[in-house]
Amino acid sequence: MSKEKVNRVVLIGTGAVGCSYAYSMINQGVTEELVLIDVNESKSEGEAMDLNHGMPFAPSPMKVWSGSYKDCESADLIVISAGLAQKPGETRLQLLEKNTKIFKQIVKNIMDNNFNGIFLIATNPVDILTYVTLKESGLPKERVIGSGTVLDSARLRFALGQYFKVDPRNVHAAIIGEHGDTELPVWSHASIGIEQLENVLAKKKDANKGCLEDIFVNVRDAAYHIIERKGATYYGIGMSLVRITKAILYNENSILTVSAFLDGEYGHKNVYIGVPAVVNRSGIREIIEIDLNEKEKEQFNHSVTVLKETMSSIVQ
Ligand code: LAC
Repeated sequence: MSKEKVNRVVLIGTGAVGCSYAYSMINQGVTEELVLIDVNESKSEGEAMDLNHGMPFAPSPMKVWSGSYKDCESADLIVISAGLAQKPGETRLQLLEKNTKIFKQIVKNIMDNNFNGIFLIATNPVDILTYVTLKESGLPKERVIGSGTVLDSARLRFALGQYFKVDPRNVHAAIIGEHGDTELPVWSHASIGIEQLENVLAKKKDANKGCLEDIFVNVRDAAYHIIERKGATYYGIGMSLVRITKAILYNENSILTVSAFLDGEYGHKNVYIGVPAVVNRSGIREIIEIDLNEKEKEQFNHSVTVLKETMSSIVQ
């Protein structure tokens, strides 16, 4: 009988985001092997020990260990959450210079160990650091993915579910653009249950279009509000990374607003940004170009401009 394919995921960075990802991976039984790597080896060892003690309660067995870059050679997916996180009031783009230095060394260590799988980047500013990973790794763009606005879209779906009192899993709404202050909601393609958003709004007696803007602003600024209160965000992004991981490992062809490399789509080239993309075992199968209305086009183009201007400060 042929040996069952064993999926190996390597996580670089066992801080709060990385460990939330690891904890979710175990509780959802997503892979067979999970390797933890951190510059602080003692930390990754401790996290592996702690996570393993929950294994008797996990839905399926998973081998979790604190490893080294040598474990990258046979990895199917490498998730990078290592780097500095936002401090209260700090924007994601302000982390660029420090995290770029960290990233270049991490990606070199990985590629020196002949990695030939898929990268999933979470560290901020995620769009630009995904671009850095593409350039430093030399892997094809389809196999270098950022978490993009998957979390932001989830935040919007949750907020709309609260407002309309429906299960957020039945709310279809997307945020695209920079994972950051210039992101934008695609109201023109939102639906609640099986009805277009505007129809539902029209029926809602106390509905006012202004509420949607308030809902979006709270979603866009959610990280700042959470960081002010608890110092960091990690559960939402950790679960978002697991969602993307499942689409890859299970070959789902799921449509997710990951950070993808534009090569002419939406009229732009040479930039990573959150757009709807079909995600499967090969990485990004294709980018979906939805018809944006004029306002959405303008906002999206502005988001691209901000990312490219910021990127120019680090791209030689
Ligand atoms: C957030 C981080 C992941 O939005 O940027 O919570």
